[in-house]
Amino acid sequence: MKTSRAALVLTLLFGCGTAPTPVPAPPAPPTTTTATASAAAPPTASAAPTPPPVVLAPGFPAGWPYPADAAPATGQHGMVVTDAALATKVGLEMLKAGGNAVDAAVATAFALAVVYPGAGNLGGGGFMVARVDGAPHSLDFRETAPSKAGHDTFAAKPTGKPDDKGGTARLGHLASGVPGSVAGLWEAHQKLGSKKKTWAEVLAPAIKLASEGFIVDAEFTASIGQNAERLSKYPASAKLFLPDGKPVATGSTWKNAELAVVLKRIADKGPKGFYEGPTADLLAAEMKSGGGLITKPDLARYKAKWRAPIEFSYRGNKVVSMPPPSSGGVTLAMISQILEGYDLPKESFHSPAELHYIFEAMRRAFIARNEKLGDPDFVKNPVEELLSPAWATAQRATIKDDKATPTVELQPVAKDSGGAGPHTTNFSVVDEQGNAVALTTTINWFYGSGVTVAGAGFLLNNEMDDFATVPGKANGYGLVQGEPNAVAPNKRMLSSMSPSIVVGKDGHVSLVLGAAGGPTIITAVFLELAGVLDHGLSLMAATNAPRFHEQGQPDVVTIEKDGLTDVQRKSLEAMGYTFKERGHIADAPSIGWANGLWAGAAEPRRNGGLALGY
Ligand code: GLY
Repeated sequence: MKTSRAALVLTLLFGCGTAPTPVPAPPAPPTTTTATASAAAPPTASAAPTPPPVVLAPGFPAGWPYPADAAPATGQHGMVVTDAALATKVGLEMLKAGGNAVDAAVATAFALAVVYPGAGNLGGGGFMVARVDGAPHSLDFRETAPSKAGHDTFAAKPTGKPDDKGGTARLGHLASGVPGSVAGLWEAHQKLGSKKKTWAEVLAPAIKLASEGFIVDAEFTASIGQNAERLSKYPASAKLFLPDGKPVATGSTWKNAELAVVLKRIADKGPKGFYEGPTADLLAAEMKSGGGLITKPDLARYKAKWRAPIEFSYRGNKVVSMPPPSSGGVTLAMISQILEGYDLPKESFHSPAELHYIFEAMRRAFIARNEKLGDPDFVKNPVEELLSPAWATAQRATIKDDKATPTVELQPVAKDSGGAGPHTTNFSVVDEQGNAVALTTTINWFYGSGVTVAGAGFLLNNEMDDFATVPGKANGYGLVQGEPNAVAPNKRMLSSMSPSIVVGKDGHVSLVLGAAGGPTIITAVFLELAGVLDHGLSLMAATNAPRFHEQGQPDVVTIEKDGLTDVQRKSLEAMGYTFKERGHIADAPSIGWANGLWAGAAEPRRNGGLALGY
């Protein structure tokens, strides 16, 4: 699509449909604007003083709740978007105070550990993709299996079915890997921070939030309520999240004094304030009392690792994403490279023909992901082969133009593969210098293992379930994975986290993407990427568009409620697809850039998210 510079600005900010509407002059850039995750929120006056004509993206079914023409947050200098408003504000303040995107990301991540404890964390891990001074970086701070864990740790009581929430890899002390977040955030700040903001300065807002508290919103209360059963099993969790046996009340001020002390130790001593000394003592004692495996030597040994990012091209744009032990970048690249062989920009948006090729590409990429990928320090990942044009061509040769391929024709199908809902949290930050950070952090399921470290005020992850705890059996997301991702001492479990940065043809960061939601992370990120790059959707339209997820097993396409019209659905069913409906798929807030203006899209599916620019 050929566009003028003015039209490019309008496209990213407000969208481009098929109607031949004359392109008006862009509005004057505002200096500070906000977009919340409320689908119904009207554009703020400063976001668009002269709103452009509404051009609806084609393909949003009638009744779809999230509008294609919503106004993004915009800013000339920087932008932060997270799933929790208070954390967004912390990041924005750090940018305004002279920190770069990495300083702001580190401050935001620590703030999320306080204000969004179901997913933000000290007791989990994650991945960061950054572009700083034009150079790409990827940082792995994934949890590791405790040194006492092994291939058959979970074999005696295999979880087997995704709906078995009580399996030992999912609930309780055995479910936790050695946390990586503190080591990762330290590495990020040391290597890529501006050097204008000290470690103590980036931790200060989180310490303040934990010690002085914050007003609890309805989302916070509801999310505890939804997880009350697992939290009530562990006294320190019950005390923190269920005072008097009930979820922390909306409107009350919630403090976490024990967490404030832990954060202060980290501020004073760096990673040693977490991996050694009193915090490590408390964590090891918690493990011992609950039959967990993490020891003080495991904690002392933990290291975050810089890895070579996955880089690939999609429609002439460069995509930088996360390599193993996340499958995110490789799987995103496999989907993209299969689809580059089809002229999707010529199809109408979400037409049955386009969705068919997308589902088949997803299916094949996930089959390869599940069979072949694991921690690169333990198994050889055939990344070169999977990212080769020959691999993509071979996959396309198996795709019929008018018919779904049953997964069983491509790999043996296990019984009982199902799938769970979203969790994890992704956020993005960009700054005035054009630096960008996409960071995804997690304790796996919401509220992780359910176990809070007594005396330390933070939850531990249930990331062990991301391993193939019993190879060939489905995990909690229905992923049927193989030996490359089997448990081994000190090994990192395979992830789907996909923090990603797109660099446009002009060499500037054009999109910053990532998501929460297990395997749906990968497909949600791809759909946003394709919405913008294949169809010229605005950032908001691409974020707000219906999402679909196909992971090979179970052999069913997950769709969002009202995400397909009857006509689309019938047409796809006639090709052999079956569908399973879910309330929503993934949380995938995003940032885009055009012509000197950042745009931010909070996730409308996650109440409480916020994009702020300045
Ligand atoms: N815990 C989900 C993932 O890393 O994919």
